Amino acid sequence: MKIVICYFSGTGNTRKIADCFAEYMREHDNDVRVFSIDGLTLNKKLPDETVEEIKTCDLLGFGYPVYAFNAPPIALTFAKKLPRLAQPKRAFIFNSSGEPLRLNNISSLKLCGILRRRRIEVTNEYHYCMPYNIMFRHSDEMAHKMFETAKRLVPLDAREILEGQKHRLKRIKCGNTIAWVMRCEQWGGQLNGRMYRVSKECVHCGKCVTNCPTHNIRITEKGKFKFGGKCLMCMRCAHLCPQNAIRIGMFNGWKVNGPYTFVAPKTDEKKQHYNRMLTKAYAQYFENAEKRIADADRETTNRNDDEQII
Ligand SMILES: Cc1cc2nc3c(=O)[nH]c(=O)nc-3n(C[C@H](O)[C@H](O)[C@H](O)COP(=O)(O)O)c2cc1C
Repeated sequence: MKIVICYFSGTGNTRKIADCFAEYMREHDNDVRVFSIDGLTLNKKLPDETVEEIKTCDLLGFGYPVYAFNAPPIALTFAKKLPRLAQPKRAFIFNSSGEPLRLNNISSLKLCGILRRRRIEVTNEYHYCMPYNIMFRHSDEMAHKMFETAKRLVPLDAREILEGQKHRLKRIKCGNTIAWVMRCEQWGGQLNGRMYRVSKECVHCGKCVTNCPTHNIRITEKGKFKFGGKCLMCMRCAHLCPQNAIRIGMFNGWKVNGPYTFVAPKTDEKKQHYNRMLTKAYAQYFENAEKRIADADRETTNRNDDEQII
């Protein structure tokens, strides 16, 4: 089967999930192409090769981080640029978010609508909890646990997709209205993006300029940084700045600088997930994940036993 996975990832969490899907699907004899949609939306049209890949594949995957209970605008723009297909196509969606709330499940509503109008039917949807890149920094222990859990869940989810079983996330009531209201974050993000500033710690390495997915940052001839009006609030510039020199406007108190290592801390370094917010929800997320993994293990053992009997 030819599978195309398109994803947007501001700070790398969603990319990690996309890679896990690709790895499992490749191991199971599929031809998998993975590409980031960074930059693809800058021109009016999508490149012909990308459209051709999508038209000729058997299964499509879309990945994105949740922003204010929605898909990021870049993911919606990308979907809008896709042509209406001659034949209906099956697709799956995966997203990563910092908290495990069910409210995040409304994030794909608009994207699914756009895809449906292009004859792309989303039959499977999955959500993974990954560390926050805004608001507060998860402890290394928590980040490690989140990624390890996702790595064990993705093969189960990918198998479900390949076997043609459907899986939709449960949404809360009035999801469309809540998602619509929360999309004001996209306008707020663009306005706030113009308020980004660079502090004197900056060493002019230019990483923020090259990293920005919408080419929204430029350096003037006088060496000053200019932030335009196309900011997605993806946090890549501030998160990956080696000098922690970018101030993110009104949300500077929520900045999370420095990539997560996802490595388990040594026992003596272990710290509690220091922000007590949603402790119960995180515990529930991990409990559900463990239950799902245990159920899948049991099912595999039963299948193997049945095959041996035959
Ligand atoms: C502007 C913005 C809004 C966010 N909104 C939410 C949210 O509504 N719910 C949530 O759980 N996480 C939210 N997050 C956290 C990210 O979804 C989460 O850290 C994600 O894993 C980042 O993925 P990435 O590294 O692929 O960009 C938000 C992050 C940003 C930058």
